[in-house]
Amino acid sequence: MDYYVVIPAAGQGKRMNAGMNKLFIPLNQIPVIIHTLNVFEQDEHCKGVILAVNENEVNLFIELIRKYHIKNVLKIVNGGKERQNSVYNGLKAVPDEDAIVLIHDGARPFIKQPIIHKLVNSASRNEGAIVAVPMKDTIKAVQNNIVEKTVERSSLWSVQTPQAFRLSVILDAHQKAEDDQFLGTDDSSLVERLGKKVHIVLGDYENIKLTTPEDLIYGEAILAKYKKGR
Ligand code: CTP
Ligand code: MG
Repeated sequence: MDYYVVIPAAGQGKRMNAGMNKLFIPLNQIPVIIHTLNVFEQDEHCKGVILAVNENEVNLFIELIRKYHIKNVLKIVNGGKERQNSVYNGLKAVPDEDAIVLIHDGARPFIKQPIIHKLVNSASRNEGAIVAVPMKDTIKAVQNNIVEKTVERSSLWSVQTPQAFRLSVILDAHQKAEDDQFLGTDDSSLVERLGKKVHIVLGDYENIKLTTPEDLIYGEAILAKYKKGR
């Protein structure tokens, strides 16, 4: 089933501490954002990409898209102050109200096609679908440095992107969040707060978000593994 994807790419990468937007950092000599875009470029079901970027980085992104022959970026829109604002700007540029739209972090270059397709399938049958993996760590609720309780791990999932919805549903959720000045930590939370049922699709632990410098070491290792065909 076909879909569009909105890719927020307008962050500053502060925690990566690279002195630039982390999406320009080369991994195996290719910028992070190109790894991410290539996944969708190579998927025939992807009808187009909408990229949200900082105003002063538009030309840098355009140059990279040309250099690496990415052909399915339909539009480049301005990012906003928060990720949520960047995503909303991107969603407004998706051309078809009935389409399934994915939201995927530019900083997650290791997403795989089979997981994308399972997600699109689930989103087409439900009110929303998100990629997640079971938590590995034990999580405790803590107050003033003292453990309050151990949260039952079997019900805890670590949520990733992509997250997928019918465009009309996610646009409405973003509009309502803006009206209520609600800032969520992901897009799904904006849909959940309207009482809708969002389904989980099992992802994999390699779909990390490149956030802090150690993540680059892991990222290089994942690419080295792919090179060996494992
Ligand atoms: N993002 C965005 N607009 C913002 C903030 C973030 O489009 N105002 C994007 C980032 O470019 C990234 C994704 O959202 O692809 C996930 O955000 P995050 O990992 O937090 O990236 P940064 O905000 O760049 O990093 P940091 O929070 O460390 O500054
Ligand atoms: Mg951020």
